[in-house]
Amino acid sequence: MADKPTSFSGRADHLVTRVEQALGRHLGEPGHHPTRLHQALHYAVFNGGKRLRPLLVYATGEVLGIAPDRLDAPACAVELIHCYSLVHDDLPAMDDDDLRRGRPTLHLAYDEALAILAGDALQALAFEILGTSPMLTQPPAARGEIIAELANACGVDGMAGGQALDLAYEGCRPDIEALETMYRQKTGALIRAAVLMPCALTPELEDPACHELATFADCIGLAFQIRDDVLDVEGETATIGKPQGADQARNKATWLSLVGLDAANRRIDELAEQARACLARIDRDTEALAWLATRMVNREF
Ligand code: IPE
Ligand code: IPE
Ligand code: MG
Ligand code: MG
Ligand code: MG
Repeated sequence: MADKPTSFSGRADHLVTRVEQALGRHLGEPGHHPTRLHQALHYAVFNGGKRLRPLLVYATGEVLGIAPDRLDAPACAVELIHCYSLVHDDLPAMDDDDLRRGRPTLHLAYDEALAILAGDALQALAFEILGTSPMLTQPPAARGEIIAELANACGVDGMAGGQALDLAYEGCRPDIEALETMYRQKTGALIRAAVLMPCALTPELEDPACHELATFADCIGLAFQIRDDVLDVEGETATIGKPQGADQARNKATWLSLVGLDAANRRIDELAEQARACLARIDRDTEALAWLATRMVNREF
Protein backbone atom coordinates (compact mmCIF):
# COMPACT_ATOMS: atom_id res chain seq x y z
CA MET A 1 0.00 0.00 0.00
CA ALA A 2 1.31 3.46 -0.88
CA ASP A 3 2.36 5.66 2.03
CA LYS A 4 -0.05 8.36 3.07
CA PRO A 5 1.33 11.68 1.83
CA THR A 6 1.20 12.88 5.43
CA SER A 7 3.35 10.05 6.81
CA PHE A 8 6.87 10.65 8.01
CA SER A 9 8.24 8.24 5.40
CA GLY A 10 6.94 10.62 2.73
CA ARG A 11 8.90 13.46 4.28
CA ALA A 12 12.12 11.67 5.21
CA ASP A 13 13.94 12.36 1.93
CA HIS A 14 13.02 16.02 2.15
CA LEU A 15 14.32 16.17 5.74
CA VAL A 16 17.60 14.53 4.69
CA THR A 17 17.97 17.22 2.01
CA ARG A 18 17.07 19.82 4.60
CA VAL A 19 19.79 18.76 7.06
CA GLU A 20 22.36 18.37 4.27
CA GLN A 21 21.68 21.92 3.09
CA ALA A 22 22.00 23.19 6.66
CA LEU A 23 25.26 21.26 7.07
CA GLY A 24 26.50 22.78 3.82
CA ARG A 25 25.78 26.29 5.10
CA HIS A 26 27.66 25.59 8.33
CA LEU A 27 30.66 24.04 6.61
CA GLY A 28 30.90 26.67 3.87
CA GLU A 29 32.76 26.19 0.61
CA PRO A 30 35.50 23.54 0.71
CA GLY A 31 38.09 26.01 -0.59
CA HIS A 32 38.47 27.85 2.73
CA HIS A 33 41.85 28.17 4.37
CA PRO A 34 43.37 25.81 5.54
CA THR A 35 42.17 24.13 2.38
CA ARG A 36 43.14 20.51 3.00
CA LEU A 37 41.51 20.41 6.42
CA HIS A 38 38.44 22.10 5.05
CA GLN A 39 38.22 19.61 2.20
CA ALA A 40 38.64 16.79 4.70
CA LEU A 41 35.63 18.06 6.68
CA HIS A 42 33.55 17.95 3.51
CA TYR A 43 34.85 14.48 2.75
CA ALA A 44 33.80 13.32 6.22
CA VAL A 45 30.31 14.79 6.05
CA PHE A 46 29.10 14.70 2.42
CA ASN A 47 29.53 11.08 1.54
CA GLY A 48 26.20 9.30 1.54
CA GLY A 49 25.48 8.90 5.24
CA LYS A 50 21.93 7.81 5.99
CA ARG A 51 21.40 10.81 8.33
CA LEU A 52 19.43 8.63 10.75
CA ARG A 53 20.28 10.72 13.80
CA PRO A 54 19.02 13.99 12.24
CA LEU A 55 15.91 12.09 11.15
CA LEU A 56 15.42 11.00 14.75
CA VAL A 57 15.64 14.64 15.84
CA TYR A 58 12.99 15.69 13.29
CA ALA A 59 10.79 12.64 13.95
CA THR A 60 10.81 13.35 17.69
CA GLY A 61 9.96 16.93 16.80
CA GLU A 62 6.91 15.71 14.88
CA VAL A 63 5.76 13.70 17.87
CA LEU A 64 6.21 16.73 20.14
CA GLY A 65 4.86 19.33 17.71
CA ILE A 66 8.16 21.15 17.11
CA ALA A 67 8.70 22.61 13.63
CA PRO A 68 11.84 21.51 11.72
CA ASP A 69 13.34 25.02 11.68
CA ARG A 70 13.71 24.86 15.48
CA LEU A 71 15.50 21.54 15.14
CA ASP A 72 18.03 22.17 12.39
CA ALA A 73 20.77 23.02 14.89
CA PRO A 74 20.43 19.84 17.01
CA ALA A 75 20.02 17.79 13.80
CA CYS A 76 23.24 19.19 12.34
CA ALA A 77 25.11 18.94 15.62
CA VAL A 78 24.36 15.27 16.21
CA GLU A 79 25.26 14.37 12.63
CA LEU A 80 28.57 16.24 12.88
CA ILE A 81 29.45 14.39 16.07
CA HIS A 82 28.49 11.12 14.39
CA CYS A 83 30.65 11.89 11.32
CA TYR A 84 33.58 12.76 13.57
CA SER A 85 33.11 9.51 15.50
CA LEU A 86 33.25 7.52 12.27
CA VAL A 87 36.45 9.24 11.11
CA HIS A 88 38.17 8.47 14.41
CA ASP A 89 36.63 4.98 14.63
CA ASP A 90 38.31 4.09 11.32
CA LEU A 91 41.80 5.28 12.33
CA PRO A 92 44.62 2.72 12.51
CA ALA A 93 44.75 3.17 16.29
CA MET A 94 41.08 2.16 16.50
CA ASP A 95 39.33 -0.14 13.98
CA ASP A 96 41.89 0.43 11.23
CA ASP A 97 39.34 0.28 8.43
CA ASP A 98 39.93 1.29 4.82
CA LEU A 99 36.38 1.80 3.56
CA ARG A 100 33.60 4.06 4.86
CA ARG A 101 30.32 4.86 3.12
CA GLY A 102 31.78 3.16 0.04
CA ARG A 103 34.90 5.34 -0.19
CA PRO A 104 38.43 5.17 1.20
CA THR A 105 38.44 6.19 4.85
CA LEU A 106 39.51 9.75 5.53
CA HIS A 107 42.96 8.91 6.87
CA LEU A 108 43.68 7.09 3.59
CA ALA A 109 42.20 9.76 1.34
CA TYR A 110 44.16 12.43 3.29
CA ASP A 111 46.37 11.34 6.18
CA GLU A 112 46.09 10.40 9.85
CA ALA A 113 46.82 13.87 11.18
CA LEU A 114 44.10 15.35 8.98
CA ALA A 115 41.68 12.65 10.14
CA ILE A 116 42.36 13.47 13.79
CA LEU A 117 42.06 17.19 13.15
CA ALA A 118 38.92 16.82 11.02
CA GLY A 119 37.29 14.95 13.91
CA ASP A 120 38.35 17.66 16.34
CA ALA A 121 36.99 20.40 14.09
CA LEU A 122 33.68 18.62 13.45
CA GLN A 123 33.12 18.19 17.16
CA ALA A 124 33.87 21.86 17.80
CA LEU A 125 31.55 22.95 14.98
CA ALA A 126 28.71 20.88 16.45
CA PHE A 127 28.90 22.80 19.72
CA GLU A 128 29.41 26.15 17.99
CA ILE A 129 26.16 25.56 16.10
CA LEU A 130 24.28 24.75 19.31
CA GLY A 131 25.84 27.67 21.13
CA THR A 132 24.93 30.24 18.49
CA SER A 133 21.66 29.08 16.87
CA PRO A 134 18.98 31.79 17.13
CA MET A 135 16.34 29.02 17.26
CA LEU A 136 17.27 27.66 20.68
CA THR A 137 16.27 30.63 22.83
CA GLN A 138 12.93 29.29 24.10
CA PRO A 139 12.48 28.11 26.76
CA PRO A 140 15.52 29.93 28.17
CA ALA A 141 17.00 26.76 29.67
CA ALA A 142 16.80 24.81 26.39
CA ARG A 143 20.14 25.76 24.86
CA GLY A 144 22.09 24.79 27.97
CA GLU A 145 20.18 21.53 28.35
CA ILE A 146 20.71 20.61 24.69
CA ILE A 147 24.43 21.34 24.85
CA ALA A 148 24.76 19.32 28.07
CA GLU A 149 22.77 16.44 26.56
CA LEU A 150 24.99 16.19 23.50
CA ALA A 151 28.22 16.75 25.44
CA ASN A 152 27.28 13.98 27.82
CA ALA A 153 26.43 11.69 24.89
CA CYS A 154 29.82 12.09 23.26
CA GLY A 155 31.98 12.14 26.39
CA VAL A 156 33.40 9.64 28.80
CA ASP A 157 29.95 8.32 29.80
CA GLY A 158 28.88 8.21 26.16
CA MET A 159 30.51 7.62 22.80
CA ALA A 160 34.15 8.20 23.77
CA GLY A 161 33.82 5.97 26.83
CA GLY A 162 32.07 3.29 24.80
CA GLN A 163 34.76 3.40 22.14
CA ALA A 164 37.40 2.92 24.85
CA LEU A 165 35.52 -0.15 26.13
CA ASP A 166 35.10 -1.47 22.58
CA LEU A 167 38.88 -1.42 22.14
CA ALA A 168 39.54 -2.82 25.61
CA TYR A 169 37.22 -5.77 24.89
CA GLU A 170 39.02 -6.82 21.68
CA GLY A 171 39.99 -10.46 22.08
CA CYS A 172 37.94 -10.72 25.32
CA ARG A 173 34.62 -12.25 26.27
CA PRO A 174 32.81 -9.67 28.42
CA ASP A 175 29.42 -10.78 29.76
CA ILE A 176 26.36 -9.63 27.82
CA GLU A 177 25.54 -6.96 30.38
CA ALA A 178 28.99 -5.39 30.00
CA LEU A 179 28.76 -5.70 26.22
CA GLU A 180 25.39 -3.93 26.15
CA THR A 181 26.71 -1.19 28.43
CA MET A 182 29.49 -0.64 25.88
CA TYR A 183 26.94 -0.56 23.01
CA ARG A 184 24.73 1.89 24.92
CA GLN A 185 27.71 4.18 25.28
CA LYS A 186 29.46 3.93 21.92
CA THR A 187 26.32 3.98 19.76
CA GLY A 188 23.22 4.33 21.92
CA ALA A 189 24.21 7.58 23.59
CA LEU A 190 24.10 9.69 20.41
CA ILE A 191 20.82 8.07 19.36
CA ARG A 192 19.38 8.86 22.78
CA ALA A 193 20.61 12.47 22.54
CA ALA A 194 18.93 12.80 19.13
CA VAL A 195 15.62 11.97 20.82
CA LEU A 196 16.17 13.90 24.05
CA MET A 197 17.43 17.18 22.57
CA PRO A 198 13.97 18.05 21.16
CA CYS A 199 12.45 17.25 24.57
CA ALA A 200 14.39 20.22 25.99
CA LEU A 201 12.39 22.49 23.65
CA THR A 202 9.12 21.18 25.07
CA PRO A 203 8.93 22.26 28.73
CA GLU A 204 5.31 21.14 28.97
CA LEU A 205 6.29 17.55 28.13
CA GLU A 206 5.12 15.28 30.93
CA ASP A 207 7.84 13.30 32.75
CA PRO A 208 6.31 9.89 31.91
CA ALA A 209 6.35 10.68 28.16
CA CYS A 210 9.93 11.89 28.42
CA HIS A 211 10.85 8.69 30.24
CA GLU A 212 9.17 6.56 27.54
CA LEU A 213 11.04 8.44 24.82
CA ALA A 214 14.35 7.88 26.61
CA THR A 215 13.65 4.17 27.00
CA PHE A 216 12.51 3.98 23.37
CA ALA A 217 15.80 5.56 22.25
CA ASP A 218 17.78 3.25 24.48
CA CYS A 219 16.16 0.16 22.90
CA ILE A 220 16.62 1.47 19.37
CA GLY A 221 20.26 2.40 19.99
CA LEU A 222 21.07 -1.05 21.27
CA ALA A 223 19.18 -2.81 18.47
CA PHE A 224 20.88 -0.55 15.91
CA GLN A 225 24.35 -1.61 17.04
CA ILE A 226 23.42 -5.31 17.18
CA ARG A 227 22.05 -4.97 13.63
CA ASP A 228 25.39 -3.38 12.70
CA ASP A 229 27.14 -6.48 14.05
CA VAL A 230 24.80 -8.72 12.04
CA LEU A 231 25.49 -6.75 8.86
CA ASP A 232 29.22 -7.11 9.48
CA VAL A 233 28.67 -10.87 9.07
CA GLU A 234 25.71 -11.10 6.68
CA GLY A 235 26.13 -7.94 4.62
CA GLU A 236 28.23 -7.41 1.54
CA THR A 237 30.97 -4.83 1.39
CA ALA A 238 29.43 -3.20 -1.70
CA THR A 239 26.12 -2.75 0.10
CA ILE A 240 27.22 -1.80 3.60
CA GLY A 241 29.94 0.51 2.28
CA LYS A 242 32.46 -0.75 4.84
CA PRO A 243 34.57 -3.90 4.92
CA GLN A 244 32.44 -6.97 5.64
CA GLY A 245 33.96 -9.22 8.30
CA ALA A 246 35.92 -6.40 9.94
CA ASP A 247 34.69 -7.27 13.46
CA GLN A 248 35.86 -10.86 13.25
CA ALA A 249 39.16 -9.81 11.70
CA ARG A 250 39.82 -7.57 14.68
CA ASN A 251 38.51 -10.08 17.19
CA LYS A 252 35.85 -7.65 18.39
CA ALA A 253 33.55 -8.62 21.22
CA THR A 254 30.08 -8.48 19.66
CA TRP A 255 26.66 -10.01 20.27
CA LEU A 256 27.49 -12.45 17.48
CA SER A 257 30.91 -13.46 18.76
CA LEU A 258 29.49 -14.05 22.25
CA VAL A 259 26.17 -15.77 21.56
CA GLY A 260 25.74 -16.14 17.81
CA LEU A 261 23.56 -14.87 14.99
CA ASP A 262 20.20 -16.34 16.04
CA ALA A 263 20.43 -14.94 19.54
CA ALA A 264 21.49 -11.57 18.14
CA ASN A 265 18.45 -11.49 15.85
CA ARG A 266 16.17 -12.51 18.71
CA ARG A 267 17.59 -9.70 20.85
CA ILE A 268 16.95 -7.19 18.03
CA ASP A 269 13.32 -8.34 17.79
CA GLU A 270 12.90 -8.12 21.56
CA LEU A 271 14.32 -4.59 21.68
CA ALA A 272 12.19 -3.47 18.72
CA GLU A 273 9.11 -4.77 20.50
CA GLN A 274 10.08 -2.93 23.69
CA ALA A 275 10.61 0.25 21.67
CA ARG A 276 7.14 -0.09 20.09
CA ALA A 277 5.62 -0.63 23.53
CA CYS A 278 7.22 2.60 24.79
CA LEU A 279 5.70 4.55 21.90
CA ALA A 280 2.29 2.97 22.51
CA ARG A 281 2.34 4.34 26.05
CA ILE A 282 2.83 7.92 24.85
CA ASP A 283 -0.44 9.77 24.43
CA ARG A 284 0.53 11.40 21.11
CA ASP A 285 0.81 10.45 17.46
CA THR A 286 4.12 8.56 17.39
CA GLU A 287 3.94 7.36 13.77
CA ALA A 288 7.12 9.22 12.80
CA LEU A 289 9.25 7.50 15.42
CA ALA A 290 7.62 4.11 14.86
CA TRP A 291 8.44 4.24 11.15
CA LEU A 292 11.99 5.40 11.71
CA ALA A 293 12.65 2.80 14.41
CA THR A 294 11.57 0.03 12.04
CA ARG A 295 13.85 1.39 9.36
CA MET A 296 16.79 1.59 11.77
CA VAL A 297 16.56 -1.93 13.14
CA ASN A 298 15.79 -3.59 9.79
CA ARG A 299 18.38 -1.70 7.79
CA GLU A 300 20.38 -3.46 5.08
CA PHE A 301 23.30 -0.99 5.15
C1 IPE B 1 27.38 3.42 11.65
O1 IPE B 1 26.30 4.30 11.77
C2 IPE B 1 28.14 3.36 12.90
C3 IPE B 1 27.43 2.82 14.06
C4 IPE B 1 27.21 3.53 15.10
C5 IPE B 1 26.97 1.46 14.07
P1 IPE B 1 25.33 4.54 10.54
O2 IPE B 1 24.90 3.22 9.98
O3 IPE B 1 24.25 5.47 10.94
O4 IPE B 1 26.30 5.22 9.50
P2 IPE B 1 26.04 6.25 8.30
O5 IPE B 1 26.01 7.59 8.92
O6 IPE B 1 24.73 5.93 7.63
O7 IPE B 1 27.21 6.05 7.41
C1 IPE C 1 30.67 2.32 15.80
O1 IPE C 1 30.89 1.01 16.04
C2 IPE C 1 30.64 3.14 16.98
C3 IPE C 1 31.07 4.52 16.78
C4 IPE C 1 31.02 5.34 17.75
C5 IPE C 1 31.56 5.02 15.49
P1 IPE C 1 31.53 0.19 14.83
O2 IPE C 1 33.00 0.24 14.87
O3 IPE C 1 30.87 -1.14 14.82
O4 IPE C 1 31.00 1.02 13.58
P2 IPE C 1 31.36 0.66 12.07
O5 IPE C 1 30.92 -0.76 11.84
O6 IPE C 1 32.83 0.86 11.90
O7 IPE C 1 30.51 1.63 11.29
MG1 MG D 1 34.46 0.62 16.26
MG1 MG E 1 34.31 0.52 13.17
MG1 MG F 1 30.32 -2.17 13.05
